[in-house]
Amino acid sequence: MKDLKRTRIKELLQSEDFDRKVLIKGWIRTKRGNKNIAFIAVNDGSTINNIQAVVDVHSFDEELLKKATTGASLEISGTLAQSSGQGQSVEIQADNIFIYGEADPETYPLQKKGHSMEFLREIAHLRFRTNTFGAVFRIRHALTFAIHKYFHEKGFFNIHSPIITSSDAEGAGEMFRVTTLDPVNPPLNEKKEVDFSEDFFARPTNLTVSGQLEAELGALALGGVYTFGPTFRAENSNTPRHLAEFWMIEPEVAFNDINDNMDLAEEFLKYLIKYALENCKDDIEFLNKMVDKELLNTLNHVNESVFIRLGYTEAIEILEKADQKFEFPVKWGIDLQSEHERYLVEKHFKKPVILSDYPKDIKAFYMKQNDDGKTVRAMDVLFPRIGEIIGGSQREEIMEKLLGRIREMNLPEKDLWWFLDTRRYGSVVHSGFGLGFERLMLFVTGMSNIRDVIPFPRTPRNAEF
Ligand code: 4AD
Ligand code: MG
Repeated sequence: MKDLKRTRIKELLQSEDFDRKVLIKGWIRTKRGNKNIAFIAVNDGSTINNIQAVVDVHSFDEELLKKATTGASLEISGTLAQSSGQGQSVEIQADNIFIYGEADPETYPLQKKGHSMEFLREIAHLRFRTNTFGAVFRIRHALTFAIHKYFHEKGFFNIHSPIITSSDAEGAGEMFRVTTLDPVNPPLNEKKEVDFSEDFFARPTNLTVSGQLEAELGALALGGVYTFGPTFRAENSNTPRHLAEFWMIEPEVAFNDINDNMDLAEEFLKYLIKYALENCKDDIEFLNKMVDKELLNTLNHVNESVFIRLGYTEAIEILEKADQKFEFPVKWGIDLQSEHERYLVEKHFKKPVILSDYPKDIKAFYMKQNDDGKTVRAMDVLFPRIGEIIGGSQREEIMEKLLGRIREMNLPEKDLWWFLDTRRYGSVVHSGFGLGFERLMLFVTGMSNIRDVIPFPRTPRNAEF
């Protein structure tokens, strides 16, 4: 069987071309049987489903079969046959087995099933091998692909915005410093402050919190652009929805106002959910069974809903009248907490909500100012189970207004000269938003902790793997 080529298990499970010789390579999930016959379930990552190899124990070396334990890697060749067993359509009648790497049952951490998510987080290097994480990371790939596909088909261009930057796009000051200065003995200026002119970039730099400002530059020439990259926030939030390193998709479109922006956000989210439902059926069905029994219902419901569009001021009125006690009291001017967002979405409307026109004092400097002098043309998309999944706005395109806000907020006007140039030359109405990729992943997979939808989560005090 030397020239037999390996076939992916996903492909074999769909095959009806029986009685031919096939070769698979993968890892053992389970082995069971008796003294005459063994059943080895093998997974190679191509699908959540295993293929079963039927092994005539007497035709194989006893020592070899002893090494075939859960977690061991191997190849099996044999005849593809229609299966008589329940729950599977095909099986392999094994002729040859070769073990690549053993997995000592005494120490292999995944020898048994049913570990808690917390335990699996501590062995993040191995959790890829579980059914749940296999499903999650296949879906993560599919959604990544769907995002590029969606924008490509709409004529958007992908912009690679920088990861190291000297600007704080969100103005929240939650940044990770990037420096090559000696932390023990940094160069000091006359005022005894750290002298960043001697640093690698000759200025203070940080990991980016958002690619938006650069996307705006691109949109004002290419029309519609999007970024899809890692972003970093040094906020000390230990919640199931916050990461210190997360991936964000940020479309930015010239000539779009806030209503166009809402239309884009709603269409985009529905496209992604539909893509996952159609292309990740087995994985989502598995998660629906094992992780969240309401998953499929929720995905279908959101897909079929027309999102509610509501002003912040009306939302506050609804929350003030709510028959529910909130941990954070509600009044006009507050930044909505996840409990408020979820009340609106899950209890009041029972649909996703696009909330707009927030108080300017709780939003970033670049947002389009409304005529009331109090609010800005911000929009957040709120989802069931998640709360805020998207944050965005129409941008302030008028130079004097933008400059006014930058000065009011004491932002470093001098350092933003390049951003202001877009308003100085050929300025247009434009809008965009940021979709938190892991928040989308939480929604689509039904997982409950954001640490479990990214391979190696970065959170306060945690960056081991
Ligand atoms: O609302 P945010 O802060 O908006 C921006 O960064 C804008 N520059 C986006 C834009 O208009 N281009 O973040 C956008 C989204 C949030 O709605 C949320 O889904 C996600 O990013 N997000 C986080 N996800 C995981 N961990 C965190 N710490 C997050 N912070 C924000
Ligand atoms: Mg936000």
